[in-house]
Amino acid sequence: MPRILTGIQCTGRPHLGNVLGAMLPTLQLANNPNHDTFIFLADLHTLTTLKDATLRKSYVYITAAAWLALGLDSQKVTFYRQSQVPAVCELTWYLSCFTPYPMLANAHAFKDKSDRMSTVNAGLFTYPILMAADILLYQADIVPVGKDQLQHLEITRDIASSFNNQYGPTLQLPQASIDNAIAIIPGTDGQKMSKSYNNTIDIFLPEKELRSSIMHIQTDSKAVNDPKDPDQSIIFKLYSLLASTTDVATMRENYLRGGYGYGQAKEALLGVILEKFAEARKKFNAYLEDQSTLEKVLSIGENKASAVAAQTLAMVRSKLGY
Ligand code: ADP
Ligand code: TRP
Repeated sequence: MPRILTGIQCTGRPHLGNVLGAMLPTLQLANNPNHDTFIFLADLHTLTTLKDATLRKSYVYITAAAWLALGLDSQKVTFYRQSQVPAVCELTWYLSCFTPYPMLANAHAFKDKSDRMSTVNAGLFTYPILMAADILLYQADIVPVGKDQLQHLEITRDIASSFNNQYGPTLQLPQASIDNAIAIIPGTDGQKMSKSYNNTIDIFLPEKELRSSIMHIQTDSKAVNDPKDPDQSIIFKLYSLLASTTDVATMRENYLRGGYGYGQAKEALLGVILEKFAEARKKFNAYLEDQSTLEKVLSIGENKASAVAAQTLAMVRSKLGY
């Protein structure tokens, strides 16, 4: 049975880009009974940029609540916090000795992030090795990720091949799974929606705050009566990812005809988010208020994950002569 594995960093509250670009497509794969799925909260990776322990803990709970609210079935999926299976840190060290320095120095994600930061720690530099360990520790076959993570998957495969070449078949070479139908979800300013750009739409916010973030979506200055180009509109783009084909066609006609303001389009977008995620929003709040259930669910996953991790680590240690 192919093993699917993916992680999401908990450096903030999950936003519509994470939900549509990563979480829902992964849950679709997880729902296939022929898949053995591992989903984890990458809370060790957050330490590269987030030092506030209280905040980290709260983002971990929020992200866990979001996964469960969106339909993660913890009976079927091994759902765990990365930090609670410390074997990953040991494997990271072993793998780091199979990682050529220039491969890390040339990683796009590192270059992008380090260019924007005043101090760059070594953890940020070795981030891809920890990610490789996340994947290889569990012998994952398929890793659903966004396009921005493709290079990290290449690095993972290179590291695994280098280990296997020296010690014989030990680590499974994973394949990335990219859903090409899902383009990059734009944020309220038209750039990629991202926690780092302060342009997110958080579908789990109370209605008033959700409305306010939608009202911040940038538009051109066309008046209500002017015809508008739907293909240049962030509101229309987001709406078409969520609404039914007929409703999308209607909004397109409204834009082209004129007499339809951006304010109305924003209300329609709010409406479809509230409708589509009504149940998830309710469940999210219920989970967040019940941290003991969250702890219980995660610790079950952590026990299962630890057992798998121990097997890989024992094999790696023995090959290395430890
Ligand atoms: P952020 O940029 O907000 O920090 P992450 O890097 O934590 O988001 O991304 C978590 C997952 O969500 C990744 O698989 C990533 O590809 C996906 N993702 C993030 N933002 C978007 C977006 N705007 N559109 C599509 N997918 C996204
Ligand atoms: N680097 C990924 C991101 O920022 C998160 C992540 C960490 C991950 N470890 C992983 C994703 C292992 C897939 C598999 O989105």
